[in-house]
Amino acid sequence: MTKRKVGATRIPCGLAVAAVLGLGALAGIAHAAGPVTPELTPRLHELLQKEMQGISQAMEKILHGLVEGDHEAVAANAERIHASFILKQELTPEDKKDLQAAVPGELVRMDRAFHQKAKRLAHVAKEKKADLELYYFGRMVEDCQGCHGRFVGDRFPGFGEKRFEGDHDH
Ligand code: HEC
Repeated sequence: MTKRKVGATRIPCGLAVAAVLGLGALAGIAHAAGPVTPELTPRLHELLQKEMQGISQAMEKILHGLVEGDHEAVAANAERIHASFILKQELTPEDKKDLQAAVPGELVRMDRAFHQKAKRLAHVAKEKKADLELYYFGRMVEDCQGCHGRFVGDRFPGFGEKRFEGDHDH
């Protein structure tokens, strides 16, 4: 199966960081990779946790949908992830400034790619293509691991030094 190229021009509408990127505010800001949580304000930390918990719940529902052939459940929950949750609405201008200071561009790019896959998953689920649903679900799980391995090592130390860069061969 070939990997489809993720459309680069769409404005992401997911994680708070993507909302910030949508404003073009993060361009050019470079940070070293490492845990981002200590850089977050308590409020952003709480919002991000809430969003991640929402994503986790949606992923569980997608898994059920996949194994039960329930394409509608897969599509609906993938759309929930793509249009992601609360964060965008809850961010104040102050939060956005705080995020700019805290979050590396690489994390924003990974988040955008992740949300694009959710969109593709919703699309193939609407077409009832079970094999492609499984494919995009797997790619999304890779993104969970990739971002956590790189930026959430304090909370999820199990990934060690592994970087997940283009490491999809096995
Ligand atoms: C682009 C980066 C990124 C992606 C992709 C990502 N996460 Fe996260 N995740 C984070 C960050 C950052 C935190 C730490 C948030 C904090 O504690 O402030 C986190 C934390 C979490 C937590 C812990 C929340 C808590 O209550 O402390 C869960 C659960 C989680 N993620 C699930 C997922 C799942 C499931 C996926 C994939 C379907 C995923 N994440 C994809 C960045 C990401």
